[in-house]
Parts: sequence; C-alpha cells; structure tokens
Amino acid sequence: MRFELQGHRGARGLFPENTVEGFVAAEALGVDAVELDVAVTADGVAVVFHDVALHGDIVRGPGGAWLAGQGPLLRSLTLAELLRYDVGRLRPGSRYAAGFPQQVARDGASVPPLQAVFAATRAVRIDAELKTLADHPEATVSPAEMAEKVLAVAAACGALGRLDVRSFDWRGVRHARAKHPGLPVTFLTDAQTVAKAAVWWDGPTPADHGGSVPRAVAAEGAGVCWAPAHRDLSEAQVQEARSLGLRVVPWTVNDPADMARLIGWGVDGICTDRPDLARQVMVRAGLLPAPADRG
Ligand code: G3P
Ligand code: CA
Repeated sequence: MRFELQGHRGARGLFPENTVEGFVAAEALGVDAVELDVAVTADGVAVVFHDVALHGDIVRGPGGAWLAGQGPLLRSLTLAELLRYDVGRLRPGSRYAAGFPQQVARDGASVPPLQAVFAATRAVRIDAELKTLADHPEATVSPAEMAEKVLAVAAACGALGRLDVRSFDWRGVRHARAKHPGLPVTFLTDAQTVAKAAVWWDGPTPADHGGSVPRAVAAEGAGVCWAPAHRDLSEAQVQEARSLGLRVVPWTVNDPADMARLIGWGVDGICTDRPDLARQVMVRAGLLPAPADRG
C-alpha cells in the first residue's frame, strides 16, 4: 500500500481548520485524506469542529465579536444556531494564531455539517474523528450515537467507500466497525489516553498486552490502523506494529525533519497541518515524483 498523506483538520497550517474551504483547498494540494473532528448538534446533526465547546480563539459571534473564552457546547446548539458563527480566521494576537502564521483567513466560513464536506470534496478520503470524551461523557452524545450519525451521513452521500472512522475513545470505533465490518478504522493514542486506557479503551490496557500499545491495537481486529502521537512514537514500536500487520500513521507531524525521520522508520503515512511541506519531503524521499517530472 502506498504512503498516505493526511491533511490534519484539512490543512490547518494553511487554511482555517475544519472548514469546507480548507478541505477543498487541501484536496487541491494533493492529500490522500482529510482528517476532521465530529460533533453532534442539539438537533442531531453531525458537524465538524475540534472542541466539544466553541473555542474563543477560533469563533466569532453573529455580530463579529470574538467569543470571550470558551463558548457553548456544540451539543447545546442547533445547526441553525451554530451556522451563525464565523470560524474563518484565528483570533489576531492569540497564541493559537501565532502557531499558524501562514494560515490564510476565509472570513464567513462556518462550522460545516459533515454532509457538506462529503459534498464539496471529490475523491479524497474523509478521516472522521469521533470527538467523544471517555472521561467527560456528558459533553457529547454517546460514542455509538456519534458513530451512527457519521455512518448515516456517509451512506446518504453514497460515500461509505471514502470514510475512515477514528477516535481516542475506542468505543465509537468498535461500534462503527461492528455496524460495517470491513470499514477502515483507526485507533488513536497519545500519552494521556494510554495512561488512562481502562477509561479510553473501555477495558483493555497495555498491561493486558505485555505493556505494548501496538499489541493492544492489533487485538482490535485485522487490518486496522494505529495513529499514535508522533512525539510518543519510537522506531521499535513502528517495527513491532508493522510486524503485527498494523498500518502506522502518526499525527500531527509539521516539522520536515520529523517527517523525514518517520518516513525513514517506515511509517505508512503521516497526518500533518502542512501537506505542502510533506509533499516536498515525500519527493526527497522518493515517495512522489518531483513536480517537473510529472506529465
Ligand atoms: O486524528 C489525529 C489527531 O487529529 C488527534 O488530535 O487534537 O488534533 O484532534 P487532535
Ligand atoms: Ca482530530
């Protein structure tokens, strides 16, 4: 299987995150997949936003004013209420904005229904992260309900073949796979969820698998993908995971030196805010032809 380039939240380093505008632009850059974060509104619509509540450095209210700190929970707003907010620019002067100095604003962009992302993109895979919080179940709908919503949207769009479901909260991933055996799925990990695996994985812990996170993921089923935080990942883990038949696609890799190192370790892809830089690294690594070589 060829190396896979995933655009994180579209291409957060270049375009406003989790917006249709960003996803369309990321597809035009040549990503294989766009990663996005799912929430469900008060009236039961699957939408795309990272946090469980509106984020004060991303969201402006209907009058154009920045939210004062954290806003309402997504699950407390109807789609119509949510669409009144603008997410097309990062708050100037914020630390968050300083992290993405090359992000180009798209004023007027709104939180998209997931359906709009399928409709606006052509062929790119949709890596839908179920943003349920195993340690804060009250903040969202249940993992099973969110998984059902995502599957229903993809099916209604005739795009189940473009869907991959992922989560740190493994319950939703299991539910999606049980409903659709063979659906591509990805198990997310980071240091925090591994440390609280009994909560986030709803049962198994690394200790049940000889202390090995790759073995815990492999126990979830054949052909699944493991997406670890790249800073937690070692070359030995990549080798172990691959020997277990896992695909390994770390996130969120934005430094070209890290990209090159991980490619050298044999990962199957990367998830990045900067697919433009990743493509340059892929060319140098022989994973893509140089632009001038293309017909
Ligand atoms: O899907 C991997 C990655 O997106 C997880 O981290 O916080 O960016 O959703 P986060
Ligand atoms: Ca995500």
